[in-house]
Amino acid sequence: MNKPVDLSHLAARAEEDSNTSDNPHFATVLDARLSRRGLLRGSVGTAATALFGSVALAGCGGGDDDTPAPTTPNAGALSKLGFTAVPKSMEDKVTLAAGYTATVVYALGDPLTASTAAYKNDGTDTDFGNRGGDHHDGMEWFGLSADGQPSTSANDRGLLAINHEATTDETRSSFFLHANGGTATLPRPTSEVDKETAIHGVAVVEVKKTGSTWAYVQNSTFNRRVTALSEVDIGGPAKGHALLKTKYSIDGTRTRGTLNNCGTGQTPWGSFLTGEENWFGYFTRPAGDDLARGNDKSVVALKRYGRAEGAASRHGWETAGTADIYARWINAKTGTSTDGTDDYRNEMNGMGYIVEMDPYRPSSRMVKRTALGRFAHESAAFSLAKAGEKLAVYMGDDSRNEYIYKFVSDAAWSAADANPVDRLATGAKYLDNGKLYVAKFAADGTGQWVELNLAAIPATYTAYAFADEADIRINCRLAADAVGATKMDRPEWCATHPTSGEIYFTLTNNSNRRVSPTAGSSSQLAPDSANPRAYTDTKGTSSQQGNVNGHILRVKEAAGSAAATTFTWDIYLFGAQADADTGLVNLSSLTADQDFSSPDGLKFSPSTGICWIQTDDGAYTDATNCMMLAGIPGTVGDGVKKTLAHSSALSIDTFIGKAPTADTLKRFLVGPKDCEITGLAETPDGKTMFINIQHPGENTKMADVADPTKYTSQWPSNAGYGAGKRPRSATIVITKNDGGRIGS
Ligand code: FEO
Ligand code: CA
Ligand code: CA
Ligand code: CA
Repeated sequence: MNKPVDLSHLAARAEEDSNTSDNPHFATVLDARLSRRGLLRGSVGTAATALFGSVALAGCGGGDDDTPAPTTPNAGALSKLGFTAVPKSMEDKVTLAAGYTATVVYALGDPLTASTAAYKNDGTDTDFGNRGGDHHDGMEWFGLSADGQPSTSANDRGLLAINHEATTDETRSSFFLHANGGTATLPRPTSEVDKETAIHGVAVVEVKKTGSTWAYVQNSTFNRRVTALSEVDIGGPAKGHALLKTKYSIDGTRTRGTLNNCGTGQTPWGSFLTGEENWFGYFTRPAGDDLARGNDKSVVALKRYGRAEGAASRHGWETAGTADIYARWINAKTGTSTDGTDDYRNEMNGMGYIVEMDPYRPSSRMVKRTALGRFAHESAAFSLAKAGEKLAVYMGDDSRNEYIYKFVSDAAWSAADANPVDRLATGAKYLDNGKLYVAKFAADGTGQWVELNLAAIPATYTAYAFADEADIRINCRLAADAVGATKMDRPEWCATHPTSGEIYFTLTNNSNRRVSPTAGSSSQLAPDSANPRAYTDTKGTSSQQGNVNGHILRVKEAAGSAAATTFTWDIYLFGAQADADTGLVNLSSLTADQDFSSPDGLKFSPSTGICWIQTDDGAYTDATNCMMLAGIPGTVGDGVKKTLAHSSALSIDTFIGKAPTADTLKRFLVGPKDCEITGLAETPDGKTMFINIQHPGENTKMADVADPTKYTSQWPSNAGYGAGKRPRSATIVITKNDGGRIGS
């Protein structure tokens, strides 16, 4: 979600903004920058080499030469994009590059069993536990051979594991799901709440190509839904921990549901990972709960994770009845036990993880991998798996001023684990034991991974007393505050370059960046080197401030090692409108064929090496709907250092990747009205791509639900898919008309 206006009744859905730790940065970054200058003055060249390594010197100098990127490309990696760029568009349809075709394969409400009724799409449908969920988001491909076995080479039959992040709503109600738009007042009716909990979670859907036509397989035995109420195991250090004990799981080993599933990942052993993002908004915490808890340290943790007492829930699910499935949304101390086994005071500690699923085994439970930390997770991108070396998993925490993390496995990768009999046991081997780090970006183009453990917490940090190492993982935002991690401009997805192994992070935007932060504001931050922009952009008659359009940062690990504790970085691309000032805003000199805002989804094609960039924007939507672009990036350090002169008192050095050309960055697709483009899965041959169109028409008013002419989008019914005119989130399949690879 990326609402341009933060309406108060929607506050629970907005990205959370509770990082009031005082590791802001302006001073530190400025100091660091000055001391680097000092160093450079003292010993020009050598200091730059030492500090800066490949950033300043590899392939250097140049923004404008045509030297190829100094990586060894895939045999099939493209050096030039083969399609004609698509113009910006505000049409209510999927516009894509000439020579390509897109069709809908799986939408909200589609039946996933043979006996589930066809979707009427008029608000009367039920049985959502056996239907496509809402707000399709991250997605991964898991191939199937002709005889239905897992296959890493299949190109015409496979499973899509798909996140169903959320739902289009207004004043609590998911109004397109209910006949009359539903109930905005409390209590919420049970029938409405049961639909709404069921359309959240994850789906596994079989898709198959017959002739040249792709379709989902309604009666596949692989089809599966996990909802906000499905039983899920806790794995890793928080399993059985005191902070996970609830009335539902008195030994702290299980919980119900996975929520607000946003980005995804795929493990080297063939399982699916899903990130739980804005889960806190689904819980209520009544006024008076601080006192009920004796103002203990749980209050500090709850506030840091977005739930101050008095916080209302997004949907009011807790009001649908007295049954336990509704009561669990009240995250409060209501019982008399000392350990929380008679209420749901600890319920939120069961959300906020990377969750693993074996997509090939519909009956297996998902497992929350708590070693990877608890926050507003997006994607989980692995380092390139190398036999005998540890695996890293890179992750972002998507809220304003939050952090970038990596997990490093204790176990070294064994190629024999690539196709295991038991994927979840292999997941436990690599993901339940390891170190968790948070990123600190320095002003000289270097950075550090700071390990989060009890030993790292400074004695001066008194905001929260960590009980043990598991408490550090469960409350890793607080641990990251304590070690002075760098506050970022809303980290969304990350993705690993298939040959260089460099890691790219989308930083979608940050309305809290200011050249001159308001005095006393604990949330506004001055720009720093890794988050160097703060400006004013106009949209119609309004203006928006901060890092309005976002950027894509990339990291190169020291010695290319997943376990490295230092790295170099630069910024691959800055989002901007093409006509913006190239001195402070359009720093990547984007043209009208390339300009974009609010990068979010990010994925590399293993076949073509293309970096696919997807947007979830509210800033540039006066000029275009959200989009997907194709990029062929170089490497960290292939561009220039630039000093941004924000004001007479503030200039910031940053490092900008080599400017894209008309051959290396182009808009490939623009979505229908009021959607976000997200999720990307490609067949191994690179010839079939699936992406998701999330929440078309989301700015429709609930009061207009009976009048299709007032919907801001009627996609995909206007593209010939399905009954009714209510807009639906959906997966589309894209192929090239000449049968070639996507983007070639
Ligand atoms: Fe669900 Fe941060 O996007
Ligand atoms: Ca977003
Ligand atoms: Ca603008
Ligand atoms: Ca996202």
